[in-house]
Amino acid sequence: MTQTQLDDLVHVGSGADAAWWRSAVIYQIYPRSWADGNGDGIGDLPGITSRLPYLRDLGVDAVWLSPFYVSPQADAGYDVADYRDVDPIFGTLVDADTLLATAHDLGLKIMVDLVPNHSSDEHPWFKAALAAGPGSPEREHYVFRDGLGPNGDLPPNNWLCVFGGAAWTRVSSEAGSGDTKGQWYLHLFDPKQPDFNWDNPKVRDEFEDVLKFWLDRGVDGFRVDVANALIKAAGLPDWDEPLHILGDAVGVPHDHHGKKPPMWDQDGVHEVYLAWRRILNSYNPIDAEGYSSDSDRILCAEAWVESPERLSRYVRQDEMHQAFNFEFLQAQWRAGDLRDAVTKSLAAADSVGAPTTWVLSNHDVVRHASRLGLPVGPKRPNGIGIDDPQPDAALGLRRARAATALMLALPGSSYLYQGEELGLPDSTDMPDEFRQDPTWARSGHTERGRDGCRVPMPWEGDRPSYGFGPSDRTWLPQPASYRALAVDRQVDVEGSTLELYRALLAARRENGLGTGSLSLLEGYSRDVVALVNESAAGTRVVVITNLGAEPVAVPPGTTMLVSSGPLTLSGTVPTDTTVWLTAQP
Ligand code: GLC
Ligand code: CA
Repeated sequence: MTQTQLDDLVHVGSGADAAWWRSAVIYQIYPRSWADGNGDGIGDLPGITSRLPYLRDLGVDAVWLSPFYVSPQADAGYDVADYRDVDPIFGTLVDADTLLATAHDLGLKIMVDLVPNHSSDEHPWFKAALAAGPGSPEREHYVFRDGLGPNGDLPPNNWLCVFGGAAWTRVSSEAGSGDTKGQWYLHLFDPKQPDFNWDNPKVRDEFEDVLKFWLDRGVDGFRVDVANALIKAAGLPDWDEPLHILGDAVGVPHDHHGKKPPMWDQDGVHEVYLAWRRILNSYNPIDAEGYSSDSDRILCAEAWVESPERLSRYVRQDEMHQAFNFEFLQAQWRAGDLRDAVTKSLAAADSVGAPTTWVLSNHDVVRHASRLGLPVGPKRPNGIGIDDPQPDAALGLRRARAATALMLALPGSSYLYQGEELGLPDSTDMPDEFRQDPTWARSGHTERGRDGCRVPMPWEGDRPSYGFGPSDRTWLPQPASYRALAVDRQVDVEGSTLELYRALLAARRENGLGTGSLSLLEGYSRDVVALVNESAAGTRVVVITNLGAEPVAVPPGTTMLVSSGPLTLSGTVPTDTTVWLTAQP
């Protein structure tokens, strides 16, 4: 390395023999929308199993499945009525076992979603709590309070729920009476998602048991839903600021005027994860003979917290293995913002010896092929409808490909969201009557919500439902643009987004980028992100993302490895393009 690069070293690599989760590329499957095995228009576990070879060929290491548990589907499965069984719409426990075994045979790990902050209101515990009445041990599983005011007509505090409206719902004074004169229960999300009371040891025991249930079935890890929410500040004090989570937070810095939200990121949550890590460690006995970090089972926190420093607390050595880092996803398409996201995220994770994670899309935000086609700067919308300003699709896709190529060059673990490898845009012209995200109704039809990124996958352009299933049914309508983006239209097609992802994933693996050391390269304009990733084996890959108007020359003595788009005729890197180049040692 030259002196300049040494000076700009931003991350020291974890090395070639690091545990798998320090560098894994993990593909998120949204079970409702990936592959429908029986033609009812909703994706299911047998459908997923049948399509798993596609993921081996894509070149990812692991799969994370959004919830497939028994659920009334009030929040698309994030409202769980039985944590130990599969909802009939997705299949059976036997189907889950088959999926796990098939994935493992293909060399893919499987992570499942764990939703500990709230259950469904149709969970047996919640039904029992309603039946048992105030003061009962059953009510202590959840957060019930008397209302304020002379008749208890006012909610216990002023909290709002993430999907819009009050975070409290009043129940009847006597089970089955139909009046609404009873206590109130807390739900940070939909009224059909009552929050558990994590101060109750019974709740803790129950979730430890659920972890073991899935570990015993062979899952490789858990993605922990709203891991920052479990514990609420004592006394549930009022909160006058917005809630900031999910899509509505994207692109807006959290400014709570120095105050700390009483429902998010309370220090008490860490006690829960210390206990969980002990359970996982008992399945990963590092002192045992034959231990291999390749078989580690892991925890990944979904925690929308205010800074990379707060996030790093979730991945201290004896807590979770990973946490979603939303900095990169939230960054605007400006070179300085991207550079900051990269350096700050790595510094924070490095301070506790954890890998960072990277992600650009998931089931809660506008897909990055659409998001990056919106004007740079303003707050990004939570869902786009036909009457809203439409993204520039060509620009969005070009930037999305460049952003992904930058992300996959970074050390750490990367999460991909189903369909981004096809360059899928959000459905931005879905008629509103199809919308199912509770956000749309609860926001009084002001926020369209997340249906646009949840549309079923196109596999075969000429088949009904574009090959999503054996019938023409799809639970959300697919936009016409998905036909030309179907998997079969892109496989082996030079320059297709799918082939770009395959090339990036293969080159990332060959060059050990996930475990490499990262330096910033000097000497480029402010509109360019220029990095070097040096592997433990000493291979150096130069990465250039050009966000400026002027084309950028390729450094002498390098060879082109992958490019996110065509170069100019003279071989320079045009705007909104990322290239990977091998440098001579
Ligand atoms: C998480 C999920 C989101 C869900 C919410 C409530 O943020 O990703 O889809 O609505 O939690 O469970
Ligand atoms: Ca189905």
